[in-house]
Amino acid sequence: MNPLDAAALNDACRSAGLPWLIAVVDEIPSTSDALRDAAMHDGIPGSVLFAESQTRGRGRRDNRWLASKGRDLMFSLLLRPDVPLPLWPRFTSLAALAVCRAIEDELPLHPRIKWPNDIYLNDRKAAGLLAEIVSGKQGMGLVLGLGLNVNTREFPAELADKATSLAVEVRDTAVRELDRQRLAFLLLRELAGQFERVAEGFNEAIGEVRDRSWLLGKQIRATDQGREIFGRALDLNPEGQLVVAVADGSTITLTSADGVRQVM
Ligand code: BTN
Repeated sequence: MNPLDAAALNDACRSAGLPWLIAVVDEIPSTSDALRDAAMHDGIPGSVLFAESQTRGRGRRDNRWLASKGRDLMFSLLLRPDVPLPLWPRFTSLAALAVCRAIEDELPLHPRIKWPNDIYLNDRKAAGLLAEIVSGKQGMGLVLGLGLNVNTREFPAELADKATSLAVEVRDTAVRELDRQRLAFLLLRELAGQFERVAEGFNEAIGEVRDRSWLLGKQIRATDQGREIFGRALDLNPEGQLVVAVADGSTITLTSADGVRQVM
């Protein structure tokens, strides 16, 4: 394994005019927990924290995020967006798009977004995003965490038929290890570029998300305001929310992925 090099990443970002201040730690409970703490105090916007391993990596809905040490990419970044709070969910759509584009830039793969936080390759999850709003004495902040399976080739039994990695999907036996340092830079470059679109008309960005959608057209089960609904994932609206067609012919718009499951 080649460890991530924070100094080289900072140099590359500075040369490319990117706004990130990068640190790499060997082991930490969770990069998102660390940046949440920072956000509550005097954390600098643009801070990015990578970890080679996490002992309490978190996913959504209290799930754990498991990744093998030094093989994948796990990082969080702290934003203090200067756009109105109702626009903050756009960062999740833009981050998902950025992850897809970084992968597409580097590898012959076609990532898909399982609305709104997961990145799939060939129907298996390769990455997950965790967006959390934090409020502290510096005001509100947004901590975005990303876990991307890069070089892991074997997964725990409970994930074996659900998870994948870039290295698995490249299917090139000559490629022993993908370059995490380069992927980290591409991710940070795409994230910065996509986030610049947050205050613009959002139709174009959502069009790009829609083109990469994994969920659209699928039958899903979801929880909406405490009640269970079944329907077909019909479209994304201009804010990136999921429009579901239900059996009585009406549509329901979901703002959160909590409880969304594909059934067919
Ligand atoms: C999900 O798929 O549910 C989201 C997973 C997010 C995992 C990343 S890894 C880096 C950051 N630190 C955490 O504890 N979680 C996020």
